[in-house]
Amino acid sequence: MAKVRLGVLASGRGSNLQAIIDNIEAGKLDAEIKIVICDNAAAFALERAQTHGIKGVFVNPREYSGKSEYEQAVVECLKENRVELVVLAGYMRLVGSILLHHFPNRIMNIHPALLPAFPGAHGQRDAVEYGVRFSGCTVHFVDDGMDTGPIILQAVVPVIQDDDEDSLAARILSEEHKLYSQAIQLYAEGRLKIEGRKVKISEQ
Ligand code: GRF
Repeated sequence: MAKVRLGVLASGRGSNLQAIIDNIEAGKLDAEIKIVICDNAAAFALERAQTHGIKGVFVNPREYSGKSEYEQAVVECLKENRVELVVLAGYMRLVGSILLHHFPNRIMNIHPALLPAFPGAHGQRDAVEYGVRFSGCTVHFVDDGMDTGPIILQAVVPVIQDDDEDSLAARILSEEHKLYSQAIQLYAEGRLKIEGRKVKISEQ
């Protein structure tokens, strides 16, 4: 099977990136990471890429006059590397129209809650504060909203009585590390089809 060419966008520690790298290296994922792009020079994700011989670049948003110009630079970098699927892994920016236009239904994100509950930057904290018994994580295609795109996969994680934001986040994170690769593998196998706002997963 042809390997799907990934471009990973990250802003920080990159543990989801690491899980994807590990699954590729273990032969569990028919993908190859062609480029890691960070909007933050200090992102540990860049070190992880380097350690594994993967090209990494810092694209500095401050060097561009606006969001569109910045995204245009990101798109050029993705196209130069012939990226097919863009994977957001802790990318702390709302994706704008330029990226969406160039990669329609070809951008995935992982969110640390069961969407549509608790979108935004504090999914784990919001779940603990609300008092839900179950939370989890969601892999979805990206559209122009905040964590609103068609849902691909979800994993449920129980919330324990004395959980705080950090303990719940850690439990969710270990599920994220499995779920993201599963979703990418479904894409690689050509099994994801978007119908309206739903994603249909075909049989193998
Ligand atoms: C994860 O919790 C992910 O769900 C969210 O940002 C965090 C990124 O963590 N989108 P990491 O950089 O992959 O370790």
